[in-house]
Amino acid sequence: MKLSIILGTRPEIIKLSPIIRALEKTNEDWHIIHTNQHYSENMDKIFFEELNLPKPKYNLNIGSGTHGEQTGKMLIEIEKVLLKENPDVVIVQGDTNTVLAGALVASKLKIDIAHVEAGLRSFDKNMPEEINRVLTDHISDYLFAPTEIAKNNLLREGIEENKIFVVGNTIVDATLQNLKIAEKNENIKAFFDNIVDDDYFLLTLHRAENVDNKERLKNIIDGIFTITEIYEKYIVFPIHPRTKKRLEEFNLFDKLKSNKKIKIIEPVGYLEFLMLEKNAKLILTDSGGVQEEACILKIPCITLRDNTERPETVEVGANILVGDNKEKLIKAIEIMLNKERTWENPFGDGKSGKRIIKILIDCIKR
Ligand code: UD1
Ligand code: UDP
Repeated sequence: MKLSIILGTRPEIIKLSPIIRALEKTNEDWHIIHTNQHYSENMDKIFFEELNLPKPKYNLNIGSGTHGEQTGKMLIEIEKVLLKENPDVVIVQGDTNTVLAGALVASKLKIDIAHVEAGLRSFDKNMPEEINRVLTDHISDYLFAPTEIAKNNLLREGIEENKIFVVGNTIVDATLQNLKIAEKNENIKAFFDNIVDDDYFLLTLHRAENVDNKERLKNIIDGIFTITEIYEKYIVFPIHPRTKKRLEEFNLFDKLKSNKKIKIIEPVGYLEFLMLEKNAKLILTDSGGVQEEACILKIPCITLRDNTERPETVEVGANILVGDNKEKLIKAIEIMLNKERTWENPFGDGKSGKRIIKILIDCIKR
C-alpha cells in the first residue's frame, strides 16, 4: 500500500505525528507532502525537529494568500504530485485549506481519502474551517471520528456508517507522548524557568473571526486588560503571526505591549507549549487543539468564541464559552478557578494513531 500524508499547518504537523510514528513501524510505502501553508520557522520547522519527523518528500511552497489564491495554488501543485505518486490513499487531518485542497485533488483523481478528525461541527458556516470540514467529510472514504458526537454529526448528514470509525483524537497520543519528553528535557525546563516567574494564565488567539474583526479583537483585549486588573497573575501570550499582523494594523499592539502583566512571546515549539499549558492556572484560547489539550491535561479552559466544534470539552466541565463578552469572561474565570479538575478526557486513550493505521492497512489490503 502507498500512502500520501498531506499537511500544511502547525496543528496538522502535531496531530499527524502519531500517525507518522505508527507508519514508521510498518513496511508500508508512504511520504509526506507539505503545502507550506505555514512556513515561518516557529510555525513549521520547529515541529518537525522537536517531534523528530522525517522531512517531507515534497515542499510545495504555497505560503499565505487569500482563500481562493491559496487553495487554488494548492490544487495545482498537489495534483502534480498525486499524479506522479499515484497513492492508494491520501491522509488529511483537520479543517484547514490544505485539507480541503488535498481531499479535493484526491477525489477528482479517484484516490481514496482518509480524513482524520472527521465529523467536527461548529454549525457556523461563517468559519472557513466549517466549510473545509463539511466538504472534506463528504468526499472522504475513511472518516476517523474522534468521538461518538462527531460520528453522529456525520450520520445526521447522511454519510454511510460503514465509512466511519470512532478512534479517539490523535492529539491525546501527541500530548501524552510529548509531555513526558518535555518534562525530562533540560533545555525545555530552562526555557520554562526563564519565561515564567510567577503564577500565570496562558492565552492564545488566532481565529479569523476574532482577530480580523477590529471590534471583536478590541473587546477581547479589553477583557484581557480587565483580568490583569483583577488578578495578580501574569498572562503569557505566544502570539500567532496572523494576530500580531492584525494587532499592528488596528493600532492595538502597542497598547497590548504596554501592559507589563501581559508577556507577549513568539510562537513556541510543541514541547515548550505543552509545559506552558501544563503549568498554567487557566487557559484562555480560541484554538481548537488548545481546547482539547487543556481538557486532556486537566487545566481549566475558557474559549473566546461563541461556539465550539469540541462540545465534549464543555460537556465534561473542562471548558466555558464566553465569546468576546467581558462580563461572561470574568464570571467564567471565577467558576473555572474554583473547579475541581476531576473531569474525564473524552478524546480517547492515546492510541488513535496506531488504530487509524491498522484500519487503513486492514481495509485497503483486503
Ligand atoms: C490556519 C487555518 C486555521 C488553523 C490555523 C492554525 C485555514 C483557513 N486556516 O489559519 O484553521 O487554525 O492555520 O494555526 O486554513 N503567517 C506567517 N507565517 C506562517 C503562516 C502564516 O507569518 O508560517 C501569517 C501570514 O501573514 C498569513 C497569516 O499568518 O497571511 C494567516 O495564515 P493562514 O495560513 O492563511 O491562516 P492561519 O490564520 O494561520
Ligand atoms: N501550539 C504550539 N506553540 C504555540 C501555540 C500552540 O506548539 O505557540 C500548539 C498547541 O499545543 C496545539 C496546536 O499548536 O497542539 C494548536 O494550533 P493552533 O492553535 O494554531 O490551531 P487550531 O488547533 O486552532 O487549528
